[in-house]
Amino acid sequence: MQTADGARRDIVSVNLGQRTYDIHIGENLLQEAGRYIAPLLSRPFAAIVTDENVARHHLKALEASLTAAGIVSVAIILPAGEKTKCFTALADLCEQLLAAGVERQDKVIAFGGGVIGDLTGFAAAILRRGVEFIQVPTTLLSQVDSSVGGKTGINSAHGKNLIGAFLQPVMVLADTSLLETLPRRELAAGYAEVAKYGLLGDLSFFEWLEANSEILLRGDAQARAYAIHRSCSAKAAIVAQDETEQGMRALLNLGHTFGHALEKATGYSSRLLHGEGVAIGMVQAFRFSEHLNHCKAGTADRVARHLKAAGLPTHMNEIEGPLPPVSDLVNIMKQDKKAQSGKLTFILARAIGDAFIARSVPESAVADFLKEDLKSK
Ligand SMILES: NC(=O)c1ccc[n+]([C@@H]2O[C@H](COP(=O)([O-])OP(=O)(O)OC[C@H]3O[C@@H](n4cnc5c(N)ncnc54)[C@H](O)[C@@H]3O)[C@@H](O)[C@H]2O)c1
Repeated sequence: MQTADGARRDIVSVNLGQRTYDIHIGENLLQEAGRYIAPLLSRPFAAIVTDENVARHHLKALEASLTAAGIVSVAIILPAGEKTKCFTALADLCEQLLAAGVERQDKVIAFGGGVIGDLTGFAAAILRRGVEFIQVPTTLLSQVDSSVGGKTGINSAHGKNLIGAFLQPVMVLADTSLLETLPRRELAAGYAEVAKYGLLGDLSFFEWLEANSEILLRGDAQARAYAIHRSCSAKAAIVAQDETEQGMRALLNLGHTFGHALEKATGYSSRLLHGEGVAIGMVQAFRFSEHLNHCKAGTADRVARHLKAAGLPTHMNEIEGPLPPVSDLVNIMKQDKKAQSGKLTFILARAIGDAFIARSVPESAVADFLKEDLKSK
């Protein structure tokens, strides 16, 4: 679809019966946010939750758009970064939302990347036993992944995303123009999740990315909108079939068991961004698949070449500073959400675009692989 001034607009629906919602994708959508949001409100009031970086660049534009639609808003600005996904920030956010007068029928707007989306969604899930929320994702990662599908939550001392709830947003507004202010490293980190959709289930999309990732990362608006649309469609299709991850939704965790362990091992710090952990983890998932003879030799190298060209790390040795011993990394993996009866679950692959869920992977096989992988560079 095109607007009067020729701007492209795409819609992807996440089909979940009465909880079905739309993801709107396009340039300069923020300017129209008030018009999109107003019909969803029970009174002309909304609370915005954002972080200090997003607020600096884009909060005024969102507030102006809401005001133009007659909506009064309050903004709560949190510190940026993964450390904000914690109990202390959750408690503080809930108190601030109550102090701002948010009632049961009001909507909360999560305006930021995956950290703000995950934290705000979880706060919405428990505030007054559940208020509805709208996602306005501002990073590539959140536009293609975290704002869609209803997983919300915070990190624990035991690992990532271990405390949370499922709460679907009532709408997602993905304004591709917001990516202009995103630091290059964050853009690349988000790109890892875009590549993930090709790697897990869509060879033709991966081939398209091999041909177009350069212009996409340089800022080509059409390539970005196409990749975001295709990624959201892939995620929406999986979520519609398995909302609460009883089965196939686990495929979306390709690279995440390794990646989450590395994120925890590096203290959720700027040493390793979430998407960077996923990039290294996806290459490891393909190498592990080769190691276990599920996948043809050379496949992991092709994956690594592509991610490297996008500016992503592809090997544990590229992480600055020391890492804990392999036995500690394996212990961290045992806390993974997918672990069952203490046994490890991995997403492995038969080929690019053909991932599968491998349950009960022996700890010793993982440890042997990691030791070999550490020596390989
Ligand atoms: N819920 C899910 O299904 C799901 C899926 C994937 C990832 N996640 C979670 O998402 C989180 C990572 O998300 P993220 O990569 O978006 O990180 P993030 O929210 O920390 O954002 C990255 C950085 O970019 C800044 N930023 C955001 N938008 C900006 C903009 N438009 N311009 C300039 N700066 C901007 C932020 O302030 C932050 O410093 C992780 O916690 C991960 O676990 C959740």
